[in-house]
This record gives sequence, structure tokens and C-alpha cells, in this order.
Amino acid sequence: MEQFLAQLPKVELHLHIEGTLEPEMMFSLAERNGIKLPYPDPQTLRRAYQFDNLQSFLDLYYQGTSVLKTSQDFYDLAMAYFTRCDQEHVLHYEIMFDPQAHLCRGVSMNTMMEGLTGAMEDARHKFGASSGLILSLLRHLPEVDGIDALIKAKPWQHKIIAIGLDSSEQGNPPGRFRKAFNIADDYGWHRVAHAGEEGPASYIWEAIREQHVRRIDHGVRCSDDSKLMTYLKQYQVPLTVCPLSNVRLGVYSDLRQHNLKMLLEKGLCVTINSDDPAYFGGYMTANMLAVQRALNLTETQWLQLTSNAINASFAPVERKQALK
Ligand code: ADE
Ligand code: ZN
Repeated sequence: MEQFLAQLPKVELHLHIEGTLEPEMMFSLAERNGIKLPYPDPQTLRRAYQFDNLQSFLDLYYQGTSVLKTSQDFYDLAMAYFTRCDQEHVLHYEIMFDPQAHLCRGVSMNTMMEGLTGAMEDARHKFGASSGLILSLLRHLPEVDGIDALIKAKPWQHKIIAIGLDSSEQGNPPGRFRKAFNIADDYGWHRVAHAGEEGPASYIWEAIREQHVRRIDHGVRCSDDSKLMTYLKQYQVPLTVCPLSNVRLGVYSDLRQHNLKMLLEKGLCVTINSDDPAYFGGYMTANMLAVQRALNLTETQWLQLTSNAINASFAPVERKQALK
């Protein structure tokens, strides 16, 4: 089974590119940009990755972004992840970035976009991989701050496929971002949002009913609400579940307690993803192997998860067919 999972063609739909910043790269970019990190070396930094909840992770994650300054930094970050994807047979990826985490440090939208789209283009040629870029708004900040980021992204609107919503979920329901999501509509983008990671099932309803999202990022708390489960099944609303992330952030104490197998067996459109692999202990294959060890899925279930991810992707129809 391990061989089967390692070789399986994969699609990743829930990945924060800033969350692929490995401690070693953080130190090399810090040196390149003359930034002093509050840790002596990458090993000590990695040992600090002990999280009690989402917020304790986000504090370190935003601190880590401080080393990203130039378009070359964004390019190198993304290319390292794309190279990893090639090694793990990830053939299509839709990656999120958090522009507000960079704009507030004086890094321009052009800097980020040149680096990220340059790497996406090169990965297409080098590896034959297809990709999409999701501009994610930080829900702990006011909506106007997000709208400012969207205005700055307008010249790049055709290089972005979707708007997303991430950061601290509790107390920040998705409905607060209605205007921002409407601007994304005008740009012709799809809509996704983190909901039901730490927050209640009602946030998933709100993301669907008020934000009209096409996919729910995480969504595991849906199992608290049977009507919601029925809805998600009926309309095959994809859930981009991130198993290792959920354990590292305390959503589940153990992967054996995770509800993803139950959701899959109930017929929901579950997909498996790595979220912030540099912080949570593994990329796609590591997530899949950990799930297999804890929940013992069948080959048919793995093929179903892959097929769900292809269907849930924003890839053009011809590309979806080629991935099948
Ligand atoms: N930003 C990066 N990773 C995140 C996660 N797992 N939840 C919410 N916001 C995030
Ligand atoms: Zn996420």
C-alpha cells in the first residue's frame, strides 16, 4: 500500500505557499536579505513548532514570512514546493498566498506575483504540472484591508483563479467579507473559504449561503450538524481536509480520531491536502501515509479521494480529463 500511495498521481487543493517555508530556507533567505531571526539555527526553530491551537501556529507562521522580500524569494519558495510535488507525483496544485501578510511589510503585489507566477510558468514547462493561484484574505483584519489587496491585484486578475479566506477563524465568520467576495466575482474568480477547522459548523453554512463558495477548506466540523452533512453530500461540496494539520493544531488529538474516513464513507466529496507542510510534518505523501496507518483505507477509497480532488479542482475540463 505504501508503494501504491507513493506512486499514486496526486492533486493538491489546500496549500499555503508561505506554509512551505522550511526552516533551512527561512535561514538562507534571512541571510540573503540581512534579517536577524530570533532563533540561533534551523533545528532550534523546528523544535519551536509545538502548537496548542491555530493561533499559536499563525503567530510563528506570520513571523516566518518576514524573510520574504524580493520576487526571487517568492520564486525560490514556490519552486522548492513545485520540485517536491514533482518528486511526489502531484500533477496539479492550487496554491494560496496571503498578500496582506506581505503588503503590510512594504512588499508590493508585483513582487509577489512576479515570483509566484514565474515559478508556476517554469514548473509547467519543467515538470508538465498544472497549477492555479488563490488570493487569500486574512479574516482577522478588517474587510477594507482585504479590499485594498484586491485592488492592488487587479492588474493580475487573469493570473489568479480564486479568492480564499484564512487566518484566525474563531470570532471571524465568513459573512463579514461580502463586498470583497463580490469584487472577486467581478474579476471572474472562484470562491473558497476556510470554515469549520476550529470554528463551528454554522460558519460552513455561512460560507455556503452567504459567500457562495465552491469549496470549503477543512470543513471537518460539519460532522456536528447532520443537516449540513446531508447538504454537503447532496451538492457534492468539496472539503479540502488536511489530516496532519488537524492533529498538529489540536483539532483531533490523534489521527485515529479523525472523521475523514466516516465523511468519505457517507459519500461527501473529501480530498486530502497538506495545508502548511513545513510546519505540520509533511507534504502530500506523508499526509496520505499517516492517514493509511491510522485509518486503513482501501485502494478504492484512495482512488475515490483522488477522483474527488480532480473533480473539485478549478482545472479546465480538458486538463481534468487528462488527470483522470
Ligand atoms: N493560514 C495558513 N494556514 C492556515 C490554517 N490552517 N488555517 C487558517 N489559516 C491559515
Ligand atoms: Zn489552510
